[in-house]
Amino acid sequence: MNTFETTASDFIAVDGQASTVSEAIHTRHSIREFEAREVPEAVIHKVFGDALRAASWKNSQPWEVHVVTGAARNEISKRLVEAAQSGEPKPDTAWPAAGPADAKRRMFDLGMKIYGVAGIDRKDKEARDSFMLRNFSFFDAPVAAFITTRFDLNFYVGLDIGCYLNTVMLLARENGLGSCPQAALSAFPDVVRDALKLSPEHRVACGISLGFPKPDSQLNRFHTPRESSEDLIRVVKTLP
Ligand SMILES: Cc1cc2nc3c(=O)[nH]c(=O)nc-3n(C[C@H](O)[C@H](O)[C@H](O)COP(=O)(O)O)c2cc1C
Repeated sequence: MNTFETTASDFIAVDGQASTVSEAIHTRHSIREFEAREVPEAVIHKVFGDALRAASWKNSQPWEVHVVTGAARNEISKRLVEAAQSGEPKPDTAWPAAGPADAKRRMFDLGMKIYGVAGIDRKDKEARDSFMLRNFSFFDAPVAAFITTRFDLNFYVGLDIGCYLNTVMLLARENGLGSCPQAALSAFPDVVRDALKLSPEHRVACGISLGFPKPDSQLNRFHTPRESSEDLIRVVKTLP
């Protein structure tokens, strides 16, 4: 069997909400099909606000969070789709190039599995492109957020923003929501700056879509695999 074929054990339910941190961690995965149902504003504030407790370098809190909903969400989505259809991504910081062979295998495996579950033939470039384009309609999520920083987008700022983003995703699960972190939303930073009236010193680090997951979507129910802890975690009691 190819590693990119899925079996029943690759899928979990995506309704309900997590009541412990462990449950949130083990039931979170990226959601790419959202219901149109609005997210109450109090919940938006809770998720993005409580996540501000995330750790950061010397408590620098290098993030600024721009949440868009309603007409603002629709307009920025329209402009991003237009940008993606007419030009190449120009992120403020270059996206990572391919890594070591084991990571390349995981990335390829993920792509194949997701296309498989989404019913996309990997040789069908048009279908792949239109799936990619869905990033810019926030996979239909009613809420999206852009994380910007006035720091240089260096390694530690990236770590800090990663801490914030992961906290948002876990809080989303606690509130019965799904999310998808998206580097794609940093692809056209000028569009984001222009729409949100931000000066050039605001660099667009990434974005995230948030909303209620469609519970019956097979794509949503796909639970991405992980390497085993035996392979990646080493507890050293006596130096070798
Ligand atoms: C920094 C970052 C950027 C990402 N960018 C995208 C993106 O642009 N589009 C997308 O569909 N998923 C994106 N993802 C989601 C990853 O593909 C996903 O987290 C990974 O495959 C692990 O799967 P999981 O989130 O379902 O557990 C991103 C994740 C991270 C952490």
